[in-house]
Amino acid sequence: MTQVPEYLLERSRERRAALGLPPSGGGEAPAPAAPGEGGAASAPAAAPAEGGVPATAPASAPATAAEAPVPAVEEPPAPPFVPPAARSGIPVWVVPVLAILPVWAFAYLGALNPPSAAAPVLTPIQAGAQVFAKNCSPCHGAQGEGGVGPKLAGGEAKLTFPNVADHIAWVDTGSISKAKGTPYGDPARPGGQHTVKVAGMPAFKGSLSDTEIQNVVTFERDGLK
Ligand code: HEC
Repeated sequence: MTQVPEYLLERSRERRAALGLPPSGGGEAPAPAAPGEGGAASAPAAAPAEGGVPATAPASAPATAAEAPVPAVEEPPAPPFVPPAARSGIPVWVVPVLAILPVWAFAYLGALNPPSAAAPVLTPIQAGAQVFAKNCSPCHGAQGEGGVGPKLAGGEAKLTFPNVADHIAWVDTGSISKAKGTPYGDPARPGGQHTVKVAGMPAFKGSLSDTEIQNVVTFERDGLK
């Protein structure tokens, strides 16, 4: 029989003690079944071995020892499955940054163009002066001094139309549809009531807005000095 080294026996004893098994009989193999002469009745299977240990114990010991001490090796959990579509390669911060970009651009442009730089709001006389320069000055003169049409500056227009509504009505229709010689405006006007002489002033209702006509009338009455 091969000699088992003492350190292996010692290890076995410690292992058995740790497992709560009785110590084996000195490492000796259990007594084999007795040779046939004793017959079945005298089978020594249960007979104690030399060490006083039941014969069954050593037989089961190696198996138990082999099974028990193996620590269960925990497999690391598999990484979660990510569908390929989710891995776009676009960093997570791109979406919020893109969402904020228009707001930033709006604030940036607003900072470049402060509201004070916007077009100034014109008074009715200032707006009327622009309408006059474009639509009326060719016939009435740049300063309303008169031309093809009569003089409007110096309060002349107010003398013809003391009432603003009549002034507006005149600009709406002009004189182009009136017969020459038709009187218009204040009959008691100093110097006599005016009459249509040229019948050449166009009707401005439609080509100018009501607000533009109102403004140019205001300019003629109060802006032309
Ligand atoms: C194409 C020339 C012409 C243009 C343009 C013109 N007018 Fe006249 N306007 C006249 C003529 C001419 C008269 C005098 C009536 C006539 O003889 O037909 C007149 C008369 C007037 C009168 C009456 C003045 C008075 O005391 O008798 C007013 C007010 C007037 N125009 C305002 C305007 C305004 C406002 C505009 C511009 C929006 C304008 N006109 C553009 C030719 C013009």
